[in-house]
Amino acid sequence: MRISVIGCGYLGAVHAACMAKLGHEVVGIDVDERKIADLSAATAPFFEPGLEALLKEVQETGRLSFSTDMSAAADSDVHFICVGTPQKKGENAADLTYVDAALTSLLPYLDEDDVVVGKSTVPVGTAGRLAQIVKAHEETAHLIWNPEFLREGHAVADTLQPDRFVYGVPDGSEDHPAVAILDEVYAAPLSSGTPRIVTDHPTAELVKAAANSFLATKISFINAMAEVCEASGADVTRLADAIGMDERIGRKFLNAGIGFGGGCLPKDIRAFMARAGELGADQALTFLREVDAINMRRRTRVVELSRELCDGTLLGKRITVLGAAFKPESDDVRDSPALSIAAQLQLQGAVVTVTDPKALQNAAKRFPELHFEPDMDAAISGADALLLLTEWKQYQRLDPHALHSSVGSPRILDGRNVLDPGKWRAAGWVYRGLGRA
Ligand code: UGA
Repeated sequence: MRISVIGCGYLGAVHAACMAKLGHEVVGIDVDERKIADLSAATAPFFEPGLEALLKEVQETGRLSFSTDMSAAADSDVHFICVGTPQKKGENAADLTYVDAALTSLLPYLDEDDVVVGKSTVPVGTAGRLAQIVKAHEETAHLIWNPEFLREGHAVADTLQPDRFVYGVPDGSEDHPAVAILDEVYAAPLSSGTPRIVTDHPTAELVKAAANSFLATKISFINAMAEVCEASGADVTRLADAIGMDERIGRKFLNAGIGFGGGCLPKDIRAFMARAGELGADQALTFLREVDAINMRRRTRVVELSRELCDGTLLGKRITVLGAAFKPESDDVRDSPALSIAAQLQLQGAVVTVTDPKALQNAAKRFPELHFEPDMDAAISGADALLLLTEWKQYQRLDPHALHSSVGSPRILDGRNVLDPGKWRAAGWVYRGLGRA
């Protein structure tokens, strides 16, 4: 099929490459000239495992091209909208400027029977509004909402073999003509058994908001347990292991630590609360305010624990933060708890050095006042305390014996509970985890 993908960020670039991998002819469109120049040269403009190899592979087939010009969408029959919906400045609600602009500039190139497929995360009600705009412009065209559930760091696999597809069509019916077209787009994963649910627009939009809210709630639940564990001398990692053995609960997404960040969960739960308020259903989601508050408390707690670790004062203490990205296998620093903690420590008088295998460039743009050191050995040399805040594999594998002589004082705060406390203590370190005695 001939497909256009509008917006080539973390979602769109991966989607475009994966659609070409599935055999379609794809053009990726974005207003950012640098991004398009990179992608045209088969260079990924951000770090995502497997993306660059995939770009090279599919570009050699001639099925994938990129453009800054929306007229490149004219030859396509299916148009995916993959632009961002960030949090509005000074408000909880989502900013739909980019979604609206993408659709408006696509309209002149819509042909009869074209299908516009929304993938961006939007407040419930958006698809219905956009569908009317599409119909008013081209009566025979359709708008379908097909939320995306990919995780950064696993984006290629999540796109090629997702857990499920959700199609939101205006009448919620399997017989809607756009269903067969999207089935053709996803023919390969569907034939290998990926389930799909066809529903109406609002349900499809809410599936995404509900899924991210559930994930955020699960993390904040275990972080709340971590607070109680700290107060009572219990160990939250063993508690998570034990409750996670109940299949109804499950062990995934029960890792207590410095909390969730990134470009999705924090802003999505806020936008969901804002939208529920507009709909008069705000009471239903007041618990999400608590989920957000528990999450933010983790950052303050780490600053307090760091002070304790440094004998009661942060002033002039050399602290090395291991990890800047909001999670491993990504260079994304949007709302990264690691960076927010690093900045807070620096404000409170510590001398902070941040290291990360992939995210330092992005981190330096957001927090130019922090000191960044790409070489890990140099970063930890002489440190008064190490803070492991993003659980990259190389940090999880650190050898406490080898490191002991490099630091000024052997003290470590394990913000993700991924190190073996016994091993580090036996090597002469003062070890602190979160929610661990
Ligand atoms: C999240 C969802 O997991 C995806 O399904 C969704 O498609 C995506 O948002 C989106 O809306 O686009 P992502 O933001 O890539 O994906 O990252 P997650 O893997 O969900 O991690 C989010 C944060 O939670 C990270 O900061 C991570 O460190 C933290 N986390 C995760 C924990 O603190 N504990 C856990 O047990 C798991």
